[in-house]
Amino acid sequence: MEIGIFSGGSLPMWRQHFGPGCRVIGVDIEPACRAYAEDGVDIVIGDQADAGFWADTLPNLPPLNVVIDDGGHKAHQQIASFESIFPTMAPGGVYLCEDLHHRENGFVQYILALGQHLNACQIARNPTPPHSTSPTSGPAKWIASIHFYPFMVVIQRTHVPPESWESEKHGTEWEPFLK
Ligand SMILES: C[S@@+](CC[C@H](N)C(=O)[O-])C[C@H]1O[C@@H](n2cnc3c(N)ncnc32)[C@H](O)[C@@H]1O
Repeated sequence: MEIGIFSGGSLPMWRQHFGPGCRVIGVDIEPACRAYAEDGVDIVIGDQADAGFWADTLPNLPPLNVVIDDGGHKAHQQIASFESIFPTMAPGGVYLCEDLHHRENGFVQYILALGQHLNACQIARNPTPPHSTSPTSGPAKWIASIHFYPFMVVIQRTHVPPESWESEKHGTEWEPFLK
């Protein structure tokens, strides 16, 4: 799926890149973009910032393997699309948001905050062996990895969302006299 069609140039490019078995779904707010529908390319018209649009649209589509957000480029639009689409993607799916300019870019700040969930932990020394636990919640529980590139973020969806991330301590024993 590509959010943002404009004059339609990237839709055949994605078909060529991913091969003849690929089905491309273009999404745009502009109804005239329906003109770019063709064999293997479906067009859906709607506002990417509207969670209701995604709730109506996504159940009619197969789980998405790749999503590219090149739509309105406003952080609230990018966040709304990500929160609706990402948990419904195919396991291992890749979500890409492009044109992320400026130091305090709102979508980058949002993804950085999600990334902080991956590091949150409570360290328990009892029961033994000690382990760190981080309960998962919200979109963060679907994240396998986050990749930052110049002007672009790529987020990969996990296969099975865990209830928590657990890291059991192996190796050197924790001596009781070491606080
Ligand atoms: C940068 S252009 C897309 C260019 C295209 N991906 C390409 O590479 O040729 C941005 C497109 O996003 C669409 N757009 C803007 N706001 C939108 C919204 N809220 N929801 C869906 N599409 C939107 C615009 O109508 C425009 O066609």
